[in-house]
Amino acid sequence: MGEVIAVASQKGGVGKTTTVVNLGASLAELGKRVLLVDVDPQGSVATSFGMSRYDVRAGILEVFTQDLPIREAIHRTEIEGLDIVPSNVWSDEEEKRNLMGAAAESKLRQALKPVRDEYDFILIDCPPNLGNLTFNALIAADSVLVPVQCEYYALKALGRFIKVIRSVKAQHNPSLRYRGFLLTMVDLRSNLARRVMEKVRYTLQDLVLDTIIPRNVRLAEVPYYGKPAVLFDRSAKGVAAYARLAKELLYGSTGQAFERAEVEEGAGVEAQVA
Ligand SMILES: Nc1ncnc2c1ncn2[C@@H]1O[C@H](COP(=O)(O)OP(=O)(O)O)[C@@H](O)[C@H]1O
Ligand SMILES: [Mg+2]
Repeated sequence: MGEVIAVASQKGGVGKTTTVVNLGASLAELGKRVLLVDVDPQGSVATSFGMSRYDVRAGILEVFTQDLPIREAIHRTEIEGLDIVPSNVWSDEEEKRNLMGAAAESKLRQALKPVRDEYDFILIDCPPNLGNLTFNALIAADSVLVPVQCEYYALKALGRFIKVIRSVKAQHNPSLRYRGFLLTMVDLRSNLARRVMEKVRYTLQDLVLDTIIPRNVRLAEVPYYGKPAVLFDRSAKGVAAYARLAKELLYGSTGQAFERAEVEEGAGVEAQVA
């Protein structure tokens, strides 16, 4: 049975969607079958695959509000083995109704059941809040991966999030575990970023993934090209970083494996600063 990973954080702009899209592409390139599920009404996963979210006829909204079987909301992508369930544009009214419905039960968990066996990984892209959609994702998930942008207030914001995870685990999903905190958009030339990284590692210890994602303009260009970065610049540092992350999730994270991955990917020594 595939592993369901919720990529979540109560903050926007920390790299959730970028992680879902590019990690998903890396896992698929390693031969894994991957489904990306967008539960963020902003619909950025569709954009990242060149679809207009206004054109989505069968998406997560229909799954939530009309009980459309999730299989019918699955769209194939250019990458073999990588499928998506896009999000649609939601009117406020629709969203409200859906949120109420979602609160009542573990809707997403139920919806994913029939397709879990067909994928090795299901990555859920969450909205930037701790509302009912994120809650639904956390109840559906086996694990949670938390992107953390290296900025001054990073840790402060994490406290509340960790409490929420604890309560979801206690009340709804006892087997939920951390896949890890992922340091994103790291500018390795910045002293502040290094200090924040040190602090985050000191506080969260081995819950922090070895792989760090550098700030890389190619990753920011994903919505513009409408495809994961690996499809328009295979040599980009950001692509190499998400390939390392995929390997870390698959094979674990001994320091040695990390160094081997560095050499393989030719990503340069600076990525090892952490
Ligand atoms: N590693 C990165 N380097 C450069 N830009 C990035 C990186 N990760 C994300 N971005 C950009 O930062 C913005 C926020 O990222 P996004 O993945 O959409 O965050 P979220 O889904 O958490 O709101 C987007 O414009 C995205 O293209
Ligand atoms: Mg997003």
